[in-house]
Amino acid sequence: MSMHKHVFHNDRVLPLEQVRLSPGQAGLLNGWGIFSTLRIYEGRPFAFERHWERLRRDAERVNLPLPYEQEQVRRTVSQLLQANDVKEGCLRIYFVYNQIGIWCSQEKMPVTDCIMYTVDLPMRSGPVRLGLLEHGRYAAHPLTGVKVTSWLENVWAAEKARGRGFEDMVLVNEHGCVAECTAANLFFVHSGIVSTPAQSAGCLAGVSREILLASAGVSIAERDITIEEMWAADEVFISSTTREVQAVSSIEDHQYKPAPGPVTERLARSFAQRAAVVSFQVGGTARLGRGTRPIEPACSISLIQRTTDKQEQPSP
Ligand SMILES: Cc1ncc(COP(=O)(O)O)c(C=O)c1O
Repeated sequence: MSMHKHVFHNDRVLPLEQVRLSPGQAGLLNGWGIFSTLRIYEGRPFAFERHWERLRRDAERVNLPLPYEQEQVRRTVSQLLQANDVKEGCLRIYFVYNQIGIWCSQEKMPVTDCIMYTVDLPMRSGPVRLGLLEHGRYAAHPLTGVKVTSWLENVWAAEKARGRGFEDMVLVNEHGCVAECTAANLFFVHSGIVSTPAQSAGCLAGVSREILLASAGVSIAERDITIEEMWAADEVFISSTTREVQAVSSIEDHQYKPAPGPVTERLARSFAQRAAVVSFQVGGTARLGRGTRPIEPACSISLIQRTTDKQEQPSP
């Protein structure tokens, strides 16, 4: 997996080696910035509106000026995807606060930089094995749940997980409740009932989590979930832009069997179908986002009806 050749920086798409960032962009080195990772299916960003809305909310929470319009950014995304010829992959959108505090230079630069680049889809096959990290999230911090560029807490914990032979960590908050993983939201199934940590537990408002919560015919409770409840679950799964819905087979040495369980399997299928249908609708062809995943006719009709929600409209 590697970064693609072209990068968008402020007002143009450039070859990577021509993009110049400066130490005088104060927010670059102190992590005063926000970002989001989007999935590209069939050359189009999935759930662009939801990602934009989260970026807008996060900008407000960290007082970051956002002098960019949604439609302008959407057009630029299309330009970048074309330049890199991305059909299936991931896109990152960053906004970095340049002119803040005493550590900024007098160089001519916008108040906020916009940086976007694309990568191949990471190879992530489930089910996943997770470790456990107590005090991995501090729910009471005012910036908890904001997707800021100061991301050390997350990448450090992910690296710790890999060092112990796990793919990611379950991050536990200061109240002994589970919050999320370093790059995914968590879900638990007890006797067929699905629940996920409430945002007050310190988790990110993941776009995939939002889509699952909004899915017709699925009832998911948002609540506090203790470590004991986590051990008692019949099924555990995670959601994220790059993973969609993936079963968890173990946390530390506690096994969940079968993985995926029946509820996880159903939700994973419905999530994947939804993404495929969005590509299908926009593309206007019978080709699906993943090539190998046929849409079941009866299912695709109900999903097409559901995607009339403005939030779910794919980008043109
Ligand atoms: C900390 C954290 N939680 C959850 C998620 C899942 O969010 P999304 O579904 O928007 O990818 C991510 C995504 O990277 C994340 O970094």
